[in-house]
Amino acid sequence: MERFLITGGKTLSGEIPVKGSKNAALKLMAASLLFDHPVTFSNIPDINDIHSMKKLIELAGGKTYSEDDQITLDNSKLISSNLDCDIAKRIRASIVLIGPLLARIGKASFPHPGGCVIGKRPIDYFVEGFKKLGARITLSDDGYKFSGRLRGNDIFLPFPSVTVTETLMMASAIAYGQTIIKNAAAEPEITQLAELLRLGGADISGAGTNTIVINGTNSRLLRMKDPAPFKIIPDRIEAGSFVILGALLSDCLKISNCCPEHIESLLYTIESAGAKLTRGEDWIKVGRSNDIRSVNITTGPYPSFATDLQSPFSIFLTQAQGESMIFETVFEGRLAYLEEIKRMGANIILCDPHRAIITGPAKLRAREMESPDLRAGLAYIIAALVAEGDSVVHNVYHIDRGYERVEERLRNVGASIQRVQV
Ligand code: EPU
Repeated sequence: MERFLITGGKTLSGEIPVKGSKNAALKLMAASLLFDHPVTFSNIPDINDIHSMKKLIELAGGKTYSEDDQITLDNSKLISSNLDCDIAKRIRASIVLIGPLLARIGKASFPHPGGCVIGKRPIDYFVEGFKKLGARITLSDDGYKFSGRLRGNDIFLPFPSVTVTETLMMASAIAYGQTIIKNAAAEPEITQLAELLRLGGADISGAGTNTIVINGTNSRLLRMKDPAPFKIIPDRIEAGSFVILGALLSDCLKISNCCPEHIESLLYTIESAGAKLTRGEDWIKVGRSNDIRSVNITTGPYPSFATDLQSPFSIFLTQAQGESMIFETVFEGRLAYLEEIKRMGANIILCDPHRAIITGPAKLRAREMESPDLRAGLAYIIAALVAEGDSVVHNVYHIDRGYERVEERLRNVGASIQRVQV
């Protein structure tokens, strides 16, 4: 077990480059199962969720080769449609493998998926979507079994779910006939996934909008014409979290290797609250402002305010003058971490599972805390860096799922944070 020891109150400065997107990389790796030739990705983050996905693919018969920030996945001889239960339960994203496995092998089974503890996170939209594509589904104590040859259909999603859109898009890419996904999610990770599938010969239009049209290849597998590595987009959640950190604690922090366009909602909101930013095509500079004002946020599907940035932004709001409301609409269990921030001295009223009122500014006190999930874990790091004194953050493995050696990178810009073995 490891924990972070953090001494708050230090001023940050310098440059912090953003790594490749976890949530793009995981789905692109899954999509490689639709290819009968190796696919190479670059800008792969070195994080635990990626290691887990790699292992799952290897256990299904895929070959993987990693070097620096690149990974090559050769799924020409995929042999198993079963996912390793232990790993699949650990990462929610494993569910996206069902799409390519079912479309390619005609069957797939998996346990109830895992991941962060942020609400109920059911899988009914996946099940309904696969039914629409003609799959048979049986449920047992071990989990779900899907089988059948997939045929395109019109699918309306009750909510623009990210992984459901991705999974159905992958499955439909090599299915028979046309699929139209309505009320689809439009996150940049989905646009990039469609781009990869198209480079492999899939016929997909509309990704990045709410209607995606896929003309299946009638079971023909995909193949890249160009073997050059496919570069993963920068992680927009990491970029946004560093912007928040810079706005709280830095003289001037340059967030590089990022895509400001992917976090317009955060940038708009944080500027409305008084933060001073400058930006280029792939960088953002931000510094502390003396005049931070309260602002309300409502999380929602892209391009609305990202639910994954809600927890770091709440720390920003503890330092803003006045009363701010957070309205979390995507997940119902994603405000629980605020109890700990209250214990640090923040003035927070948890109205219900979806809404909280934060009144600032508050002086945060150092504390010993347990990271409940990946994004709240980073919020605790930010809170500890703001607080005066020495804090401890436990359950570092949650944070390692999504942020590559975050303590080294924060130390490079002046933070006092050490990883220690318990
Ligand atoms: N939902 C259902 N039924 C389903 C699927 C989803 O009711 O079958 C509900 C969820 O419970 C939630 C809402 O739909 O209330 C939206 O969830 P969505 O399916 O969009 O989330 P996800 O695909 O499970 C991805 C990211 C999350 C991110 C959300 C929202 C991955 C692997 N995960 O999750 O990222 O918060 O989209 O943007 O892409 C993270 O990286 O820490 C993380 C949690």
